[in-house]
Amino acid sequence: MKNILFVASECMPFVKTGGLADVVGSLPKCIDRKYFDCRVIMPMYSFMNQKWKDMLEYKTHFYMDFNWNSYYVGVMEVEYEGVHVYFIDNQDFFTCDKPYAGMPYDIGRFAFFSKAALSILPSIDFRPDIIHCHDWQTGLIPVYLNDAFQANEFYRGIKTVMTIHNLKFQGVWDVKTMKDIVGLPDYYFTPDKMEFNRDGNMLKGGLVYANAITTVSRTYAEEIKMPYYGEGLDGLMRARQNDLRGIVNGIDYDMWNPKTDGLLVENYDSDDFKAKKIANKTALQEELGLDVDPDVLMIGIVSRLTDQKGFDLIAYVMDELCQDAVQFVILGTGEERYENMFRHFEWKYGGRVSAQIYYNEALAHKIYAASDAFLMPSQFEPCGLSQLISLRYGSLPIVRETGGLKDTVEPYNEFEGTGTGFSFTNYNAHEMMGTVRYAEKIYYDSREEWDKMVKRAMDADFSWQASALQYQELYDWLIG
Ligand code: ADP
Ligand code: GLC
Repeated sequence: MKNILFVASECMPFVKTGGLADVVGSLPKCIDRKYFDCRVIMPMYSFMNQKWKDMLEYKTHFYMDFNWNSYYVGVMEVEYEGVHVYFIDNQDFFTCDKPYAGMPYDIGRFAFFSKAALSILPSIDFRPDIIHCHDWQTGLIPVYLNDAFQANEFYRGIKTVMTIHNLKFQGVWDVKTMKDIVGLPDYYFTPDKMEFNRDGNMLKGGLVYANAITTVSRTYAEEIKMPYYGEGLDGLMRARQNDLRGIVNGIDYDMWNPKTDGLLVENYDSDDFKAKKIANKTALQEELGLDVDPDVLMIGIVSRLTDQKGFDLIAYVMDELCQDAVQFVILGTGEERYENMFRHFEWKYGGRVSAQIYYNEALAHKIYAASDAFLMPSQFEPCGLSQLISLRYGSLPIVRETGGLKDTVEPYNEFEGTGTGFSFTNYNAHEMMGTVRYAEKIYYDSREEWDKMVKRAMDADFSWQASALQYQELYDWLIG
């Protein structure tokens, strides 16, 4: 039996701001239990729903040196759907109303978390063969492991994997402050290690010291070796390309299943979706105060409202698109200008645009089920889970060909009758609009072709099965 430990700042169902939580919450369940004991460590945030807090069991506590102080480290535990999840409790760092507090606070919070995650291992009696780190919040783990922890035999020989879910966020702050907080010597703050444009960079530390690096799609693994997508680390990505793989994300097929989803008005599968998706559509139209029209093309958006997701393209052409026979349903939160933009369009095109500016799991399910198409014109997209969910719910993705969107959405080919969605190449608003209009044309003029495409989309397999095997191969190869 090999031991694998995931360490991450969010994990479904406990805390989620984006796809990272979905991956950390669902992948461990799909790692083969016959060969691997896969566990998770995350912070115990004070804002966590009481329902989850009540499930946790106190394991142990101790004090740990950090940033010139001695800090309480509490360990709570729950076994959830067969996976052991540990929570690191400290009120100084994790009393908050959302996971991320901004810089420079997060440097200290997640450096503490990373050191604590390593420190608790002997007391929970779990020696991982591999520590699988996710994103910049855990970037210091491979560095700490290489440093003082080597003095303790328990830690020697533990291997690390660093997974990049989003290279845009790296945990960067000035060297002097960072060095002081994280407690690493000068040795680590050189350009071949954690220094980055004269600042300190936590993700870079992880990428230099991890035994293997993965990211969440093949195309993104190629893209980040180039300056446009590399966020200043493309040189390091090229230098480590032999240790870098792209393994595409899957989604939790139990949670995202239109046949059993309790939040839908009517359940459906790839054989009987036609009438039943319409029932979901009209129910949502009623719920949100849209014009009730079973035949109109409904386009869904469920997203963090940030530049990454291509909302400036939508801003350019939304007025023009709203002249067409379409409805837009938007669910999301994020940058204020995009929140206000969608509120404005709802006001301007009442009955045809609905802007729901908040976070809501249940409404997300309903939108995936109700909409006919799903718009995701990202500027960059490491993988993207929303398009995978929309495929499964028969809402055809309209995407830009980048990262995981390129790898998971097969563009419609009207001559060969293949494809599961629509895509365009350049980051250009009119190219996007042309593609949306092409989708409108197929929807209104060739409904049979559209329906066949919905069936192909719903039948495509984006469960974790194949990708979990690739992670297992990687673990085996590293353990040797
Ligand atoms: P990212 O991680 O970059 O935000 P992904 O597509 O990988 O993008 O994952 C986004 C996840 O978050 C999906 O499961 C999506 O349904 C969900 N999501 C995003 N915004 C909201 C929201 N406002 N309400 C509910 N779910 C949301
Ligand atoms: C990040 C990326 C997204 C990816 C998710 C899970 O948030 O933006 O593309 O799907 O992580 O890996």
